[in-house]
Amino acid sequence: MTSRVLVLGGTAWLGRAVVRAALSRGHEVTAFARGESGTVPEGATFVPGDREQPASYDELGGGEWDLVVDLARQPGQVRSALAALSSRALHWAFISSCSVYADQSRPDADERARRLRPVAGDVIGPEDYGAGKVACEIACESARGKDVLLVRSGLIVGRGDPSDRFGYWPSRFALATEDGRPVLVPGASAQHFQAIHVDDLAAWIVEAGLRGVTGPFNTSGPVTTLADLLDTSARVAGFTGERVALGDEALLAAGIAETMGPDSMPMWVHDAEWAGFFARDVSAARREGLTCRPLAESVADALDWERHLGLARTGRRTGLDRARELAIVEGRSAPRGART
Ligand SMILES: NC(=O)c1ccc[n+]([C@@H]2O[C@H](COP(=O)([O-])OP(=O)(O)OC[C@H]3O[C@@H](n4cnc5c(N)ncnc54)[C@H](OP(=O)(O)O)[C@@H]3O)[C@@H](O)[C@H]2O)c1
Repeated sequence: MTSRVLVLGGTAWLGRAVVRAALSRGHEVTAFARGESGTVPEGATFVPGDREQPASYDELGGGEWDLVVDLARQPGQVRSALAALSSRALHWAFISSCSVYADQSRPDADERARRLRPVAGDVIGPEDYGAGKVACEIACESARGKDVLLVRSGLIVGRGDPSDRFGYWPSRFALATEDGRPVLVPGASAQHFQAIHVDDLAAWIVEAGLRGVTGPFNTSGPVTTLADLLDTSARVAGFTGERVALGDEALLAAGIAETMGPDSMPMWVHDAEWAGFFARDVSAARREGLTCRPLAESVADALDWERHLGLARTGRRTGLDRARELAIVEGRSAPRGART
């Protein structure tokens, strides 16, 4: 049966995947955004509008929707959308994040874990991302009671990833396969790791949303280890060379950051307060039909994307430039953030 799906977003990464997932299931899809992040996939109706101007929702006309999917980060945008559209939506899904949780230290925590205190105000900065998502969730609960699907996603990966995080490892092993030099890796590779492919997440959002599934759900893949991610990335990239493992203290002494950002070891977690970040309990979403492709398939997809961007590119949003990495491997000092 054809359903009417409204995506608030749809011009960026996950939003485009949600639009594609709904179109591929035969649904009628409208995407509402400014159009600054990109275009909507062919087959969807694009309605331009700026959510900072609440009157712009009028551009959507007077229709009704079987499912509204909201990808916003700004509490003010979430409130204005609910005020304008909630009464005309059978089901509502808000794309939240596992960053809503107050305690990231404990592995295997489920959706009953305490949330951060919500941040006040309509517009938040990136430093308040998790507390802002809590404010967005509370806005959804205030407007719709229990009748809302809260998608608390973990790390999203795959083709088109704008964050440069997950793709670093297959990309780096592939580059080292070409240049024949070693790869620097974190020694503490027994730590947890967990991620979800963007298309697996998008498919579940559409299917669970239209089925009327409600409540909060951690959505990510099965918990594995950073060692598994490194081994899988090396295998997919065809890398059989040398890995140079540095312990936590040596990495910190070299000025390398944890998890993300320039000059970091992507997904390496040293801080015990974040030891549970890549190990959320996702069994509730699995019971509601969430399925995830094998890690190797996500790695292969990310590697294709990295090849498209260029394996040797410098100035990644996350990870080390190759010259800086090799300088550390060879014990030479390299200025922090050095670029070639
Ligand atoms: N990446 C991860 O690992 C991860 C993990 C957990 C959760 N998440 C969540 O997953 C979602 C990712 O969404 P995404 O990839 O589609 O990218 P995004 O950059 O978060 O999407 C923002 C969307 O909202 C639209 N938008 C922004 N400001 C707007 C405005 N003033 N008026 C109208 N539309 C506006 C953007 O389109 P225009 O710019 O064209 O207007 C874009 O389509 C986010 O909710 C994020 O918090 C991500």
